[in-house]
Amino acid sequence: MKAVNVGICGLGTVGGGTFNVLTRNKSDIDAKAGRHINITHVAARQLNPDCDTSSVKVSDDIFAVAEDPNVDILVELIGGTTIAKDLVLKAIQNGKHVVTANKALIAEFGNEIFAEAVKNKVTVSYEAAVAGGIPIIRALREGLAANRIEWLAGIINGTGNFILTEMRDKGRAFEDVLKEAQALGYAETDPTFDVEGIDAAHKLVILSSIAFGMPLQFEKVFTEGITAISSADVAYADELGYRIKHLGITRRRENGVELRVHPTLIPSSRLIANVDGVMNAVLVKGDAVGPTLYYGAGAGAEPTASAVISDIVHVARSVNGDTSEVDYDANVPHLGFATDQLSNFNILPIEEVETAYYLRISALDQPGVLSKITQIMSEAGISIEALIQKEPAEGQDHVPVILLTNRALEKQIVAAVSKIEQLDSVAESVVRIRVESLK
Ligand code: HSE
Repeated sequence: MKAVNVGICGLGTVGGGTFNVLTRNKSDIDAKAGRHINITHVAARQLNPDCDTSSVKVSDDIFAVAEDPNVDILVELIGGTTIAKDLVLKAIQNGKHVVTANKALIAEFGNEIFAEAVKNKVTVSYEAAVAGGIPIIRALREGLAANRIEWLAGIINGTGNFILTEMRDKGRAFEDVLKEAQALGYAETDPTFDVEGIDAAHKLVILSSIAFGMPLQFEKVFTEGITAISSADVAYADELGYRIKHLGITRRRENGVELRVHPTLIPSSRLIANVDGVMNAVLVKGDAVGPTLYYGAGAGAEPTASAVISDIVHVARSVNGDTSEVDYDANVPHLGFATDQLSNFNILPIEEVETAYYLRISALDQPGVLSKITQIMSEAGISIEALIQKEPAEGQDHVPVILLTNRALEKQIVAAVSKIEQLDSVAESVVRIRVESLK
């Protein structure tokens, strides 16, 4: 059977990992694909000293791979959305299948790229774009195909989870942990993508589109990062039996779909609450299967390479042995649903999202203050699940009051909090963190 020739663009952390794992495990991988998978061309601005590229064609122009008639699958690992987009479109137009780990590219330009791929009868695979080594795209598109997905929630940024874990367990400073994540190759080139939730938003929109069968709408994801999380809130959450995790959550509701990334208190007893360090996890609730949990390394060279290579094997298995054309009809649609069956669900604005809340209020330590706060909540129709008042710190006349609310619409909470902040007996802004039971 004809071999499949692979051209790798980008030889950084993930490119280097892909090159090395494909080379190291070649005989097993070929046996699984049922044919030889050969790296025939690599292109990178600079070579990776960890990769022995002496037996492959090496270019410094990535577009040389897209133009190489000998390449069947172009693997895009350069990142970014400008040159990467041109490269991927060029490869597609030249009849090459594409494998990419580029979540920003798929989240922002996936609709256009998939349409071009369908037109040119090639595939674009992107397992590595979400949750690193966890095969979550395949699980959603294939393993859970029987289900009507109700919701999913995931820790889908390894850097953010690593930072929150180190802060909680070792009391380390935010900046210090971030530097370590960069040195370990977990963080994005621009690490604000990690800590401000943009990276997680890219991944969430992809998961949501596959879960519910709708076009990608990155601009509609509500995104809040982890930079404002204080060690005081981490400690109070612990005391209440919760962990703070940075979650991507998408949920089907009667009037639309929730699509949101933000720090979230989750009960410590949930398995996902105990996913620490750079590890990722995605909890998916299907109507038939119930809750399922997927766990693994969300970043790093070889975990991400594992997902990239699974796509290469998938493409290698589905292309015709003699001509390298993909058996297109038998292939899995890019977003799991047939392209003409995608729905334009309404993405709910954050005000319409329904969630419980952790509120930390700095209140004057005198009689009647708590009753004013609880009265505002009750007038807003929001029930209180738990309330604790801490001791005042030495010399302070204000005390932290922590409320856990029941579920309510975000706009109800915002209105009530604004009234609480106007009380003379309340100093500073109220700290608000959403709470999910993930039942
Ligand atoms: N910066 C990303 C993360 C890399 O930390 O999860 C994997 O997408």
